[in-house]
Amino acid sequence: MKTSLYEATGGLETLQRVHKIFYDKIYAHPWLKKFFEGFDQKIIEDKQTSFMGEKFGGPEYIGKPLDQVHENIFIPQELVNIRHEILRQSLDEAKIPNDLSVRWLRIDEAFMKQVTKKSIVSFYRDYQFKYKQRIIHPAPKK
Ligand code: HEM
Repeated sequence: MKTSLYEATGGLETLQRVHKIFYDKIYAHPWLKKFFEGFDQKIIEDKQTSFMGEKFGGPEYIGKPLDQVHENIFIPQELVNIRHEILRQSLDEAKIPNDLSVRWLRIDEAFMKQVTKKSIVSFYRDYQFKYKQRIIHPAPKK
């Protein structure tokens, strides 16, 4: 039987190690950190670990559906690209072998479109629910 990516990467321990490096960077990033204010980093790390773990062939994800969690957040393509680059750097720092890191990034990329908003106009049109406020953080001035 073919080894799952979960087993090949080292499973839970590796996912936790990579996501600690990853979210340390996210929580320190001048733009990305704004979205996570008030959210406990360890809880976010554990959710991301559970989410990716399932996609890698590990235990079932114990979190909310991705589109629902991000529906009220204005996430433009530029921001998603920054996040993806940070993930690439984190995998490098964690010394994940290149073939596995390529697969990891490809899986992550497959979910990016579920959270990305095409434009502010379409975001206002598509997200009109009152139960969660819209969250918009423009890029900080350089
Ligand atoms: C730049 C892009 C992104 C931003 C700014 C962002 C932001 C956030 C924020 C603020 C939360 C907490 C929301 C809440 O609990 O109400 C969250 C949760 C989460 N995000 Fe993202 N996210 C991004 C991209 C992604 C991507 C691409 C994935 C998957 C590959 C992802 C996976 C998750 C997961 C699994 C959770 C936890 C869901 C839960 O609470 O059950 N995010 N994200």
